[in-house]
Amino acid sequence: MTRRRAALIVAALAFGVPPAARAEMGLPTLYLLHCSGCHGATGHGVPERGIPDLQHAGSYVALPQGRAYLVQVPGISQSHLDDATATRILNYVLARFSAADLPADFKPYTVDEVTRLRADKASDAETRRALILDGLRKLGNLRDDYVTPSSIR
Ligand code: HEC
Repeated sequence: MTRRRAALIVAALAFGVPPAARAEMGLPTLYLLHCSGCHGATGHGVPERGIPDLQHAGSYVALPQGRAYLVQVPGISQSHLDDATATRILNYVLARFSAADLPADFKPYTVDEVTRLRADKASDAETRRALILDGLRKLGNLRDDYVTPSSIR
């Protein structure tokens, strides 16, 4: 990491990030600032403590409600990120950590789509996720090594 980037991250952590600066930030830095605290620098999360491994997130988008769910997880829907930045981070996370699980015909999220889905916050993310996983399993679209976050077991 360059010294300039390190200084930027320290400043962002201390003072918050003005929207204009956020729009300029690279996606790895945005991930580090807004997501890695829970999902970890390598995206593996802590499944045994209910924080999913992002490696498998790509499989959700095979179902419309799964595609919606990825926008409605608290880390996206309830963050202070503007819709354009949230869209960029979500597309980035899927491509970086979960490319192998994305359907071949996957179309990246658009800002309009994220704006619409974000307005409908999931009231019970765990139940919603359990239903989606069930649907994906029936479709044969969930990898055998998918680790269900422990909170819904
Ligand atoms: C405060 C901790 C926390 C932060 C910060 C956070 N997440 Fe999450 N994330 C979670 C938890 C917990 C879940 C499981 C959802 C649930 O059960 O409510 C989750 C679920 C997800 C999922 C769905 C994966 C799956 O298999 O269920 C995606 C995608 C995701 N987060 C992306 C992000 C992105 C992108 C960011 C940064 C903008 C982010 N998260 C920030 C805790 C966090």
